Amino acid sequence: ITRKFFIGGNHKLHGNKESLTTLIKSLNNATFPSEDIVELVISPPIIYLETAQSLIGPRIQVAAQNCYSESKGAFTGEISAEMVKDLGCQWVILGHSERRRVFGESSAVIAKKIEHAMQVGLSVIFCIGELLVDREANKTESILAEQLSDIVKSVPDWRRLVIAYEPVWAIGTGVVATPKQTQDAHQFIRKWLATNVSEQVAKETRIIYGGSVNATNCVDLSKETDVDGFLLGFAALVADDFTTIVSYAK
Ligand code: G3H
Repeated sequence: ITRKFFIGGNHKLHGNKESLTTLIKSLNNATFPSEDIVELVISPPIIYLETAQSLIGPRIQVAAQNCYSESKGAFTGEISAEMVKDLGCQWVILGHSERRRVFGESSAVIAKKIEHAMQVGLSVIFCIGELLVDREANKTESILAEQLSDIVKSVPDWRRLVIAYEPVWAIGTGVVATPKQTQDAHQFIRKWLATNVSEQVAKETRIIYGGSVNATNCVDLSKETDVDGFLLGFAALVADDFTTIVSYAK
């Protein structure tokens, strides 16, 4: 497989300058598999991006947890992809279920954000996933297909997009998807890409899993054929957990 394993750490609304500094110092001292094996990204709250960017070693890249679809203007409280880039960050997380559900971001808004961020040169971790009710109603695949269709025309460069499958029922709940549920969803996403984008994009796009991944359950999940990495939440806040999970990169 030509897909390089990818591990992202989404800090969400956690930490402060002191805890982030401690975490980054530990990560800088950790031993990771080589860059050819696994790509590493952390995503602290936006206000600490510059701190993270200035402290982190060359082995780990930094992502914003969000950015707006316009370069500038009267948009109080927002930050632009240009600003993220200006700090030297390479990545942004878009479409996270918390942005969709807590902050009411529609697919149309997310599609615009993806397009703009990529035009500016950022790479994107794009999140999709079904609710528990959807899964129970056997609608997982149709939800994933819908979330993919909504943005498919807004991706100028698929090589800079990583898809994170994050079933909403698994996020922050301690209920991780089983390896089979994960593989099935990832395989579906890859097939969807083959049909709706191209065989090559399907083959090359990293599809990572997020939702209650820890230093134990990552072992079996990472063995699945179509699992190309993880988007970690809580586990990303603990240097030892992050490092252990990275050690299982295949
Ligand atoms: O972006 C990360 C995910 O939402 C996973 O969060 O590992 O705390 O469940 P979690």
